Amino acid sequence: APTLKSAATARGLLIGGAVSASLFDDLDPDYADTVAREFSVVVSENGMKWKALEGTQNVFAYGLADAVVAWATQRGLAVRGHTLVWHDSAPAWVYALKTPQEMRSAIRNHITQVVTHFGPKVMTWDVVNEAVADTPGHPLRANSPFALAGSDYIDAAFRWAHAANPAARLYYNDYGAEGLNGKSDAVYALVKGMLARGVPITGVGFQTHVDSTFSVEGTGMRTNLQRFRDLGLDVQLTEVDVTLPASGATPANLERQAQVYRDLVAACLSVRCSAVVTWGVNDASSWRSGGRPLLFDDDYAKKPAYGGVIGALQGR
Ligand code: G3I
Repeated sequence: APTLKSAATARGLLIGGAVSASLFDDLDPDYADTVAREFSVVVSENGMKWKALEGTQNVFAYGLADAVVAWATQRGLAVRGHTLVWHDSAPAWVYALKTPQEMRSAIRNHITQVVTHFGPKVMTWDVVNEAVADTPGHPLRANSPFALAGSDYIDAAFRWAHAANPAARLYYNDYGAEGLNGKSDAVYALVKGMLARGVPITGVGFQTHVDSTFSVEGTGMRTNLQRFRDLGLDVQLTEVDVTLPASGATPANLERQAQVYRDLVAACLSVRCSAVVTWGVNDASSWRSGGRPLLFDDDYAKKPAYGGVIGALQGR
């Protein structure tokens, strides 16, 4: 039988998931076995966030992140770095900075240190995550500490990441921009402007935290992804999960979930995207475990959604 990895590799696509320290839990060997067998790329779910790496200014702690990178590298898996600049994962000391200059230096130092530390082992980075607000008009978030650094802090972040590793692939990553809507218009305008200013951006990550009522067709997702591709940018689905309705894991709900996964992967393939990453491994370890949103159930059995992904990868 094919695995996700064998079927995706045949299509030139990376497939994977976010992983936690469960990777090293000897009492839960199925977790690591599933990742090694099925995935070709991993993301540390929380281990590479600013809070985790630099909880104290200029004191870097790479323990979990290094362990994940070593584990993946030894098994031939790629690593997506997530995420250099995200307001939600900024430690308290970042929020306490007072001047634009202090904020710029802090961002620059964080990016330079982290990207340099991982070097060639992490060639893909979510440089800036969720900078666009959900409020009308979708301006850049006012509630981000990084706003203090000046409106060009996103451009600067990409330039600093590029300077630290000129061969790395650099992404802007966000949620709610999968279909054609006001938010994706704002993300589109943002990255189009970056390209016009010569900012080194490789692509856009579409998180794709959706539920089983999501319609790829109805949201115009394929058209949306294609307009980013038409700018010359890469596209990845970076944090996919599809929650079930409150009525739970009924056969009909699991089939609907499988159909959404199938449609998402088909849309991604149709625009020649480069990766599909689920936000976790098995349902029990998901940040939205109640919605049973992933491809493997609590016991690591393949769900109908797994078949949906394989089907899309095989063009069925
Ligand atoms: O590990 C500590 C534990 O020691 C402590 O006792 C406990 C008390 O709160 O917290 C634990 O850390 C939590 C961590 O998840 C691990 O479970 C943090 O509080 C919690 O904030 C953290 O949530 C993560 C969240 O990002 C915020 O960083 C989720 O696991 C993670 O799935 C989620 O992922 C984000 C992406 O990075 C960006 N896009 C949205 C996505 C979902 O929110």
